[in-house]
Amino acid sequence: MSVVELCREDEIAVVLVDNPPVNALKHEVRVGLMDAFSQARDDSAVAAIVLACAGRTFIAGADITEFDKPPKAPHLSEVIALMESIGKPIVAAIHGTALGGGFEIALGCHFRVAAPGARVGLPEIKLGLLPGAGGTQRLPRLIGVEKALPMILSGDPIPAKAALQYGAIDSILEGELTPAAVEFARRVVREKWPLRRVRDLDEKLAPMREDPAKFDELAASSSKRTRGLHAPAAAIEAVRWSLQVPFDEAERRVRSAFQELRQGEQSKAQRYIFFAEREAAKVPDVSPATRPREVARAAVIGAGTMGGGIAMSFANAGIPVSLIETGQEPLARGLDTIAKNYRNTVKRGGLAADEMERRLGLIAGSTEFERVAEADIVVEAVFEEMELKKRVFGELDRIAKPNAVLATNTSYLDVDAIGQSTKRPQSVLGMHFFSPANVMRLLEVVRGEQTAPDVLATAIGIGRRIGKVPVVVGVCHGFVGNRMLRARSIEAERMLLEGALPQEVDGAIVEFGFPMGPFAMGDLAGLDVSWRMRKAQGLKSEIADQLCEAGRFGQKTGKGFYLYEAGSRTPRPDPDVENLIVETSARHGVARRPIDKQEIVERLIYPMINEGARILEEGIAARPSDIDVIWIYGYGWPVWRGGPMFYADRVGLASIRDRLGEMAAHSKDERLEPAPMLARLADDRRGFASLVESKKAPRQ
Ligand code: CAA
Ligand code: NAI
Repeated sequence: MSVVELCREDEIAVVLVDNPPVNALKHEVRVGLMDAFSQARDDSAVAAIVLACAGRTFIAGADITEFDKPPKAPHLSEVIALMESIGKPIVAAIHGTALGGGFEIALGCHFRVAAPGARVGLPEIKLGLLPGAGGTQRLPRLIGVEKALPMILSGDPIPAKAALQYGAIDSILEGELTPAAVEFARRVVREKWPLRRVRDLDEKLAPMREDPAKFDELAASSSKRTRGLHAPAAAIEAVRWSLQVPFDEAERRVRSAFQELRQGEQSKAQRYIFFAEREAAKVPDVSPATRPREVARAAVIGAGTMGGGIAMSFANAGIPVSLIETGQEPLARGLDTIAKNYRNTVKRGGLAADEMERRLGLIAGSTEFERVAEADIVVEAVFEEMELKKRVFGELDRIAKPNAVLATNTSYLDVDAIGQSTKRPQSVLGMHFFSPANVMRLLEVVRGEQTAPDVLATAIGIGRRIGKVPVVVGVCHGFVGNRMLRARSIEAERMLLEGALPQEVDGAIVEFGFPMGPFAMGDLAGLDVSWRMRKAQGLKSEIADQLCEAGRFGQKTGKGFYLYEAGSRTPRPDPDVENLIVETSARHGVARRPIDKQEIVERLIYPMINEGARILEEGIAARPSDIDVIWIYGYGWPVWRGGPMFYADRVGLASIRDRLGEMAAHSKDERLEPAPMLARLADDRRGFASLVESKKAPRQ
């Protein structure tokens, strides 16, 4: 079976792409399309052509794996040029998602029809690219710059209904799509509809051309979170060319901008993360044939900071959820916070009011623990206390359905010990969400010693269903993310004692690409949380402990490492904190010295990489790329730097090993001694990536 088939239904030719799983435009598909369209052009019995796809989706874009290889003709723009030159109507029949090059092909057709559930978009920006085959030129011509630029800069697809409203598609067709599209094509022929090539349109460009300042305004407001990224600026320029130069000239420029981005480090990192995210859902020793347990209803125990957000995540995905609390007062508080969060989203235009009501209707607050008996999955999010968690799981064991998945959202506690408080440890695992749980996409799925494969598969499946990025990790203190974070925090505080100030440490790492530094993050999360935990473990933290003893818990008290004006979340350096730090250095007999940005970045990041190597060696994470996904989706690691382990390979493990050795000698902290795995790889001149090249696992 060829990846592109051509068949005829009377005078209508159907070009069918069949390249599972997502009909990506690999080389054979492009060749097949050239052949099929040429044949249809040359066949005088063909009056019109329908382009359709087999399987679950229309063409989902270029084959991303080909971007690492030299480009091979025919290029996508040649396929589209051929389609536009045929002189017979071509109708794209879109189901699933028409993305990137897939949507660009559809834009090269004369008409576009779609199934009701279809979505269209140009997600290239998420891969550090810009749409390279006409998307930046045709989409503005078709729907106007005001609508096209935000779509290109966000990369988010839009549903068929919005696409119809914008004029990106011509019709939504009910029923089986290909026959309906054939019928549509017959009508085009019968009624002699004019052949409109998108590249020839100009009407929607004219207003913006006359008002260039408006373009700059739109570009500025559409590209908020793009600090450090190259692709958004390139995409803005490309769309500007649609207003300034003829189509073919713009296309030439776009192609060269695309090639530059494709070969750049940022896009390589972003492409790596695309596949890393999908790889993370595969568990090496769990067969892809493992059937997850059915989940129709969830329960969340504890309606605090995390429980509320977790309940929202279920409701957002249409899953009914019971939210269980100890009393009316905390329950009402939790439900109020949820309602307030939804209202804010509605106010910002992110959610329709009736959809908010529907979601709220899916969350059933209760003070009766017995309600867990209805749930297929239970997520516990009560206080971080082992005895309490054990008691809750004991109760769950008594009441929950025999086949229910029992998950804890603990940040640090031993998931195996929690499992042991039930008679069904095989059904217990960790589902570690990140705050705010309704927003953050990372989900660490913590696999206990006895967790059954189908329970793991259920947690991964439900994680994906509620829009999270699940990554399987093993049991240890802090799992992967928080354990590495701790390595960073220790070094951050050490630098304060040696001579740096919080704003200098934070400033350097923000410049590296993080949204905020460790001290601003501590203030946001609340310094008291880790203080309590340190006390429980008999640990100390020179500066942070003193701040907490003085009642400075961070933003919630208006003071922490920084000062916050009433109602403001902007950290301002505080002279009192500076004095406290300088005095502490003096007390320890440390002569303070300036610490430059490069040293700050190395000292924050290399200890994390070192801890990451230990995590790999212990098997707590299955692959380096899992660690990278955790840091990107859970902690704001800049995606264009690919995650800590990817970054380590770029820097070179030998230089990291040497630097860690110096740091260990200087601070006398043996945790900074290069981890055996890191040292071994460095000695062999290998990188972390080499650990996995031969270990591809089947999909979960
Ligand atoms: N190239 C190569 N492989 C791809 C791919 C692509 N464009 N899109 C998806 N895949 C692979 C995935 O890696 C995955 O493989 P494994 O099963 O081996 O892990 C498989 O297809 C299924 O993908 P998902 O798990 O993501 O499936 P889903 O149903 O959850 O989502 C999707 C489907 C919405 C299409 C999603 O895969 C997606 O967003 N794909 C990327 C789309 C994209 O970015 N397209 C633009 C590419 S750039 C471009 O097009 C530029 C140009 O032409 C010039
Ligand atoms: P929180 O203090 O905001 O909420 C805990 C809630 O549990 C309270 O509303 C309390 O009334 C309720 N509760 C206590 N005992 C209960 C019981 N027996 N039955 C029902 N409800 C009960 O705490 P938070 O921050 O939501 O943390 C919850 C869990 O999530 C902890 O294990 C924590 O370590 C973990 N976690 C917290 C994160 C954070 O950033 N806050 C991030 C990730 C995990």
